Order: sequence, then C-alpha cells, then structure tokens
Amino acid sequence: MNPTAEDMLSVSATRADGMTPSEIWPNSSFFNRAISQSVESGAKRIERGVEINLTPRHRIKVDCMITPIIEEEYPTEILVELSDANAYEKVLNEANQQTVQEAAKESIQGMAHEIKNPLGGIRGAAQLLELELENEELKEYTQIIINESDRLRKFIDRMLTPSRVNEKSDLNIHEILEYVVSVVRAENSQNINISKDYDPSIPDVAGDREQIIQAVLNLIRNAVQAIDENGTITLKTRIRRQVTIQNKLNRHVIEVEIIDDGPGIPPEIEAGAFYPMITGRAEGTGLGLSIAQQIIQSHGGLISYEREYDETYFTILLPMD
Ligand SMILES: Nc1ncnc2c1ncn2[C@@H]1O[C@H](COP(=O)(O)OP(=O)(O)O)[C@@H](O)[C@H]1O
Ligand SMILES: [Mg+2]
Repeated sequence: MNPTAEDMLSVSATRADGMTPSEIWPNSSFFNRAISQSVESGAKRIERGVEINLTPRHRIKVDCMITPIIEEEYPTEILVELSDANAYEKVLNEANQQTVQEAAKESIQGMAHEIKNPLGGIRGAAQLLELELENEELKEYTQIIINESDRLRKFIDRMLTPSRVNEKSDLNIHEILEYVVSVVRAENSQNINISKDYDPSIPDVAGDREQIIQAVLNLIRNAVQAIDENGTITLKTRIRRQVTIQNKLNRHVIEVEIIDDGPGIPPEIEAGAFYPMITGRAEGTGLGLSIAQQIIQSHGGLISYEREYDETYFTILLPMD
C-alpha cells in the first residue's frame, strides 16, 4: 500500500501487513471478491463507482483497476489501483455543465429573437391602426398593444443580457449576500431561517453587481421554495486556491455555498435542471438556474449542484483574479 492508499483506506501499511482483507475491512467484501474473480479469470478488470465500506459509518466510492500478475499459470500477485470516483464524477459533471450551458444560451437567445422579431411588427401595426382610428376611446386598446409590446421587449432584452458582463466594479460578496437576503425576506411573509458562515477575510471581487445579485437571488429563491417552515438555509463563503474552471487554472476563487435542507432537485429533472424551461414547480419558468449559470460563467466561474447528507448544495465559484 502506498501512502495515498493508506489515506484513502484509513489503515496504515504497517498495520495491514500480514492481514487478510476481511480482517482489515470486515464490513466490505470488495477485496475478497476482486481477488477471487481475478484469480479465476486471470484477466485485468476495471470497475467504476464501487462502494467500499471501510467501517459501518465510513464508505468510499472508487473506480478501480485490478490486474493479476501472472508468473507461471496462476496469478501470484494482484495489483489493485483505486481512484476517488467522486472526483471523477465531479470533473464529468463540470464538463457536462459547459455543454449544457452552451446549448442553454443558444436556446434562450434563439427563443428571444423569435419573440422579438414579430413584436416589432405587432407594435408597428398597432401604431398605424391608431392613426386610422377616429374613435378616441378605441385608442386605449392600441395603447395597450404598444405598451405591452414594449414591456415584452424590455423583458427579452433583459433575458439576452446575461451572456455579457456589462459593468464591472469591486464587489463585496457578503454585502451582496446580505442585500439578497433582505430582498428574499421582503418577498416572503413567513420567517425564513438563514444561518451564515462567512469568511470575513474574502477581498472584493470584480463583477457586474446587478448580474451577480440576480444569480445569487435566483439560487436563494430556489432554496426558499425548497424548504419547509422549519427548514434552514445556510450561506457559506470561502476562498479556494488553485481551482480549474472552464479549463483555466485560477489562483484564488471565491466559493459561495447556498445550502438548504429541502428535498433536493426532483430526480426526473436533475439532469436538465440548468437548462432553460426545465422546472419542477407548477408556477416555475425554469429560467432561474439557467440564467444564474450564464451570469456566473460569463464571469469565468461556475455553479454546481450536489446533494450530500440530506442537504442540497448550490456552489458558486467565482474567480478573484
Ligand atoms: N434548492 C433547490 N432544492 C430543490 N429543488 C431545486 C432547488 N433549486 C432548483 N430546484 C429545482 O430545479 C428547478 C429549476 O429551477 P429554476 O431554473 O430556478 O426554475 P424555476 O424555479 O422557475 O422552476 C426547480 O423547479 C426545482 O424543481
Ligand atoms: Mg427558480
């Protein structure tokens, strides 16, 4: 066992020396099974996402490669290589996220243009009609068409903007979180339990204030909608070092976690939750996560989703430099 394996399997090589796998890990049959299958087949095997119970309460998930080393007829040794499956899944997820977002961006923008183009025609026609109208009272209706067309147009323009960062300024992430919390509290009549775990040493970060507020608001609103009346939302901030996002290595990254103890994204929409128009709520638009992701990505960052120990984690990573 090399030092990494000692770490991963929570046992020292000295202690394990001379023991059988079932003596070391009585709660897991993994090694016995792997060894006997290898002896039988004599062939190299790869298994992904294997769960190993190190103790009744400590379980790891690994990808493994098992190679019998055959000297004469039977394997005399078996080489077991393990790697952390969760780390692998995370990378996969991240790669997926980028493809999803490319598609999302195209689909939102395509949709927006499809709506915007005929809007110009509708508005123009209403103006012409208004000129021809002799009855003043009827102009009230053309005005509604014109005003509503303008409103829809502004809404669409707002939908189209997240793909570019407009004005950057120095932002204090905690000030933004506090502001969003005050908005969310104002929106909800019932009391919401929000606990905070801030790292006060986090410096300002350059970003588009309006957009970052929008992204954080979308995530915290979702968390509010997910919890019940006794539920809690936790806001946690940290600095992370040496983080690769969108194939770029960042020396320092701000990590903002929005954690809630609700049920998590329903499994049937989990894979597509960051797509526009995918919603698990009757009154939802399915745009919240997609817009938030676009905003953070246009700042060089990433939002990811994880479910762990009955808690829902939305993590914003925002590069500092
Ligand atoms: N914190 C959360 N907990 C549980 N489900 C969530 C959470 N955030 C998002 N979701 C799920 O993802 C869906 C998509 O979210 P979103 O893109 O914001 O659209 P909308 O809120 O309009 O439905 C939600 O409808 C909900 O089912
Ligand atoms: Mg939402």
